[in-house]
Amino acid sequence: MGGADPAESAQWAVEMSDAAVRLGGSEIWSGVDFQAREGELVAVLGPNGAGKSTLLHVLLGLLAPSKGSVRVLGGAPGAHNEQIGYLPQRRVFDETTRVRGVDLVRMGLDGSRWGVPLPAVGPWASRARAARARVQEAIGQVGAEEYARRPIGECSGGEQQRLLIAQALVRRPRMLILDEPLDGLDIPNQVAVTALVQRICREQGVAVLLVAHDVNPLLPYLDRILYLAGGKALAGTPEQVITGETLSALYGTPIEVLRTADGRMVVVGHPEGHHAHGPRHVLG
Ligand SMILES: Nc1ncnc2c1ncn2[C@@H]1O[C@H](COP(=O)(O)OP(=O)(O)O)[C@@H](O)[C@H]1O
Ligand SMILES: [Mg+2]
Repeated sequence: MGGADPAESAQWAVEMSDAAVRLGGSEIWSGVDFQAREGELVAVLGPNGAGKSTLLHVLLGLLAPSKGSVRVLGGAPGAHNEQIGYLPQRRVFDETTRVRGVDLVRMGLDGSRWGVPLPAVGPWASRARAARARVQEAIGQVGAEEYARRPIGECSGGEQQRLLIAQALVRRPRMLILDEPLDGLDIPNQVAVTALVQRICREQGVAVLLVAHDVNPLLPYLDRILYLAGGKALAGTPEQVITGETLSALYGTPIEVLRTADGRMVVVGHPEGHHAHGPRHVLG
């Protein structure tokens, strides 16, 4: 690949070279070669248990690779975590949760403690004002103004997910790491949240790593894909990675990639497709 120019290589958000990781004595994956640039939207895909969340933990410096090298935003994993907005896997709020969306977003600014607002007097006043403005800005970015003051438990799944993304955005990160942000959403909401994430990615040059199960609703939006399956990885652009041959080999089961008349791709027979949809669900 290109990128011999050193100024260009400084723009890598993630660089993994022959990386491997072990957990509880067993190797989860190995031989991972993967790079993503700042401003790219990357999907991390693969079956349950393939090590997708584990890969995110490695990028955040929570777990050291057992082999190879890993760099994040030009430094060691963990060195730039204050520039990363992280949404951990699956957080559900039941209807008894009284915390409001605005409070949840604010937690992203305060370091994830429930409450303890800054006092709005004395030297703190301008900081508190700035904090409120940041929270409002993040809520605006995800279009959540209408329901941000409702208890989060009363918001729909899609609304909760937008507020959680706002929480990850509130510090104006250079990189967003979202672990299954589309889980539990219906197809229209999966598409809407993906489009929203792509807009943030494009407008602010934020690198986004998004873990997902079902590739089809994402396909039109992705710059790059990292597949993890059977302890191995496959990375590249959607054109490179999404072929019947590569996916069948990776999953060890027949997978077909269909092309619609206007050039969109649809993956059929994908073992992880929760919704088992066929070509009639093509979205583009
Ligand atoms: N602390 C641990 N010790 C041993 N194995 C673990 C530990 N945590 C997770 N695993 C295993 O690592 C694998 C990858 O898990 P995970 O990264 O959560 O997968 P994914 O996010 O792709 O579903 C799974 O097989 C899981 O059982
Ligand atoms: Mg996971």
